[in-house]
Amino acid sequence: MKELAGKKILLGITGGIAAYKSAVLCRELMRLGAEVRVIMTAAATQFITPLTLQALSGHPVHSDLFAAENEDAMGHIELARWADRILIAPASAQTISKLAHGEADNLLTTTGLASDASLMIAPAMNNVMWRDVATQENIKLLRARDVLILGPASGDQACGETGPGRMLEADEISEYVLQQFQAQSLKGKRVIVTAGPTWEAIDPVRGLTNHSSGKMGYALAGALHDAGANVTLISGPTALHPPRSVPCIHITSAQEMSDAVMENITGCDIFVAVAAVADYRPVSSTEQKIKKTAETLTLKLVRNPDILAMVAALEKPPFTVGFAAETENLIDHAKEKLAAKKIDLIAANPVSGDNSAFNSESNELSLIDSNGITHLGRCSKSILAHKLTKEIVRRYYETHPTKDT
Ligand code: PMT
Repeated sequence: MKELAGKKILLGITGGIAAYKSAVLCRELMRLGAEVRVIMTAAATQFITPLTLQALSGHPVHSDLFAAENEDAMGHIELARWADRILIAPASAQTISKLAHGEADNLLTTTGLASDASLMIAPAMNNVMWRDVATQENIKLLRARDVLILGPASGDQACGETGPGRMLEADEISEYVLQQFQAQSLKGKRVIVTAGPTWEAIDPVRGLTNHSSGKMGYALAGALHDAGANVTLISGPTALHPPRSVPCIHITSAQEMSDAVMENITGCDIFVAVAAVADYRPVSSTEQKIKKTAETLTLKLVRNPDILAMVAALEKPPFTVGFAAETENLIDHAKEKLAAKKIDLIAANPVSGDNSAFNSESNELSLIDSNGITHLGRCSKSILAHKLTKEIVRRYYETHPTKDT
């Protein structure tokens, strides 16, 4: 059976160049089995024709709040009642503002206000508009009302600028929609995710660290949360905001990460170590800044605790998932780590060349466990996080067969 069979999705399209992606999104949702009805704002019709969406959805497109034919067909109240989910993609800054302030002055915002269905929006706009305090305040208001904000992505924009504000791709949005309809498979489960780099101080201003941005770990924490888990994120220094409703313990060094994990591990069902933890730290860090006097300087390093191996060695360990970042012999090295750390599953990602997993928007993962290898392929970290979550859920319940459904 198709994953969205029987689901009714009201797709709202607002005015923006990203509206062309809505046609692909409509087709993708229907390919997954959903029934799709479309509302377009007047501005949206300047970018893509209603006829295109009518042909794709198989139903007339609605745009006029006062259309006479709606007396017999679907008016805004009917559409509001019909929808299981309302998805607005692209959502312009103007529509976001109207939704935040309850301004019901067109068919889309009126239907949104009149509906109990959960609302998901995929913002798309110029990066300066997205960063503007007014837009951010509106987004905050919508988040507080449990509106799911999908993206936006960062990158080259149609206006010629670069930055956050691009609408997510159709496959990424439909993955989120799928996730929303999936059973809360990890409801009641406690999950800890480590993410980001660690910083090992040499003196008050210098330290040893690596290129981890936290993107993979934060995306995974969000995907596990979407699957219903009670997630705690333990993160090294990053520039990211933790996913909505995911508490985050901020640490700096590997020792602090180890302490935070061990303080929270009791009762944890699944532990996922995405963090790039420094294997070594300076034996001691000086209180004052080291002065440039000697011609050479030797740093003496000592091993940090292996957090993942410690968790796997607990008397009653959670289901343990590690990551392996390798510049060569990816699968062989990952297999060695799986065995050495005695963990349940390892996700191997390449970190050499142009496709390094570090600090990029996309990644490529191969999963290895005692049954063999599963390739998840290359895609955005957000999609990979949802794919990996599904794989973790399946393996977790294979070894802990107590799932209440
Ligand atoms: O943060 P991003 O920019 O999105 O990049 C993501 C990533 C590349 C950092 C991530 O996908 C990744 O591969 N994380 C693990 C990187 C790594 O350092 O692996 P490792 O081979 O050193 O360690 C193996 C496993 O043991 C990891 O799960 C690590 O978290 C864990 N470990 C390692 C050392 C240590 N002292 N304690 C640990 O728990």
